[in-house]
Amino acid sequence: MQLEELVTIKSLEAEAWEALEKAIMYYQGHAVGTVAALDGTVDALNYDQCFIRDFVSSAILFLIKGRTDIVRNFLEETLKLQPKQNQLDAYRPGRGMIPASFKVVSRNGEEYLEADFGEHAIARVTPVDSCLWWMIILRAYVAATKDYSLAYQPDFQQGMRLIMELCLATRFDMYPTLLVPDGACMIDRRLGIYGYPLEIQSLFYAALRAARELLICNGNQDIVNAIDNRLPVLRAHIRKHYWIDLARLNAIYRYKGEEYGTGAVNQFNIYVDSLPYYELDRWLPKTGGYLAGNVGPSQLDTRFFTLGNLMAIISDLASEEQSQAIMNLIEKRWEDLVGDMPMKIVFPALAGEEYRIITGCDPKNIPWSYHNGGNWPVLMWMLAAAAVKTNRVCLAEKAIEIAQPRLKDDEWPEYYDGRKGRLIGKQARKYQTWTISGFLLAKELVQNPSAVTLVSFEPFTAEQVSRACEFEIDSFDS
Ligand code: GLC
Repeated sequence: MQLEELVTIKSLEAEAWEALEKAIMYYQGHAVGTVAALDGTVDALNYDQCFIRDFVSSAILFLIKGRTDIVRNFLEETLKLQPKQNQLDAYRPGRGMIPASFKVVSRNGEEYLEADFGEHAIARVTPVDSCLWWMIILRAYVAATKDYSLAYQPDFQQGMRLIMELCLATRFDMYPTLLVPDGACMIDRRLGIYGYPLEIQSLFYAALRAARELLICNGNQDIVNAIDNRLPVLRAHIRKHYWIDLARLNAIYRYKGEEYGTGAVNQFNIYVDSLPYYELDRWLPKTGGYLAGNVGPSQLDTRFFTLGNLMAIISDLASEEQSQAIMNLIEKRWEDLVGDMPMKIVFPALAGEEYRIITGCDPKNIPWSYHNGGNWPVLMWMLAAAAVKTNRVCLAEKAIEIAQPRLKDDEWPEYYDGRKGRLIGKQARKYQTWTISGFLLAKELVQNPSAVTLVSFEPFTAEQVSRACEFEIDSFDS
């Protein structure tokens, strides 16, 4: 690399760090998170808040850089915002939920944290992913600091327990996956992802793994048993029923419908005509595959959702073979999935009548814009983590090289529009924090691959969980 080029990259990184520094949110003198965006040119709306999902990339980066206090403060403060009792008012958030976001407010000269569980969001969407990401951040904190004592504190044990109770409760449902409403995750508007969206399932799996490592068995045996029962069934369900490659497409193409009883091959009664199989037949490379966006009664959503697929690799939800096939697909369909800005949130976009019916004519989610096929730079860190885990680092390097020259000039936009992500998102914020930290984290993971273990999981073994099982709850001296 030329010296001049190196100097430019270094100054770009320095600028990114400076911008990230400015985004840090302080509460009673302590750093507790990062605001979503610092765009001075438009009304802040709720972008002046710290979103749990938006903070993830900053949190991991801070942990790698030894600034663990911010993450610890974040975990402690957000835990206090978790309702511990069920509310009589059904419009209030239920026990165990973690808010979508929070902000600092001043009243009579005193600072308070105000939580938003979606009440202030458009369409009052439920942030199901928050409690799952919270578990993942807690586990990353413990992995980085080796400070188990934080997770073993009674308030943290209670917080985790309440999250697990929410996730593992008996429901009107017969699947091991988590049933959620539309917009319950990063895609927080209607996009036809109600039911069993992959993003939630991948985060659910990672959160179960995290809880299994951190919950003290003694005193939580019921929850630990429930996790042990759910983990293998959830994993097998996703690996089998969500998987799409040419062999599976062939099998599905010849499915018969209307089969009754336990012997049914077409278990979800997928009607073949609901699938764009001619397009998939053209699009699927021979060596590639991916996990479907959603599987439910007569429903197989064949859209490729990036976050869910990458987190499935990182969390070990996808098998080793499937992980390689997903990376093959990204490599072979680079123009569609990465294009000029890593990376597309979902492919393909919903268009025409489908767009109108499924999004409810959402003007922000027109085809190839925002959630509906826009390109989101934050996804770059997950691409880097998945690339490290599958030994395909060159794919992450290529993505960083594409993004690097544009992000600074474009002032770190929230998202890009267009088939290839060449247009700065129509309503994208500038100086979006997770764009900045996602880029820095992607670079960090490539340079320092061992850091991926903060978020990744290896195949599940008994040894990994024995530590918490040997720990006696009574022996903890808080
Ligand atoms: C948008 C995104 C959401 C994000 C929020 C703050 O609503 O869809 O995922 O958390 O902005 O950046």
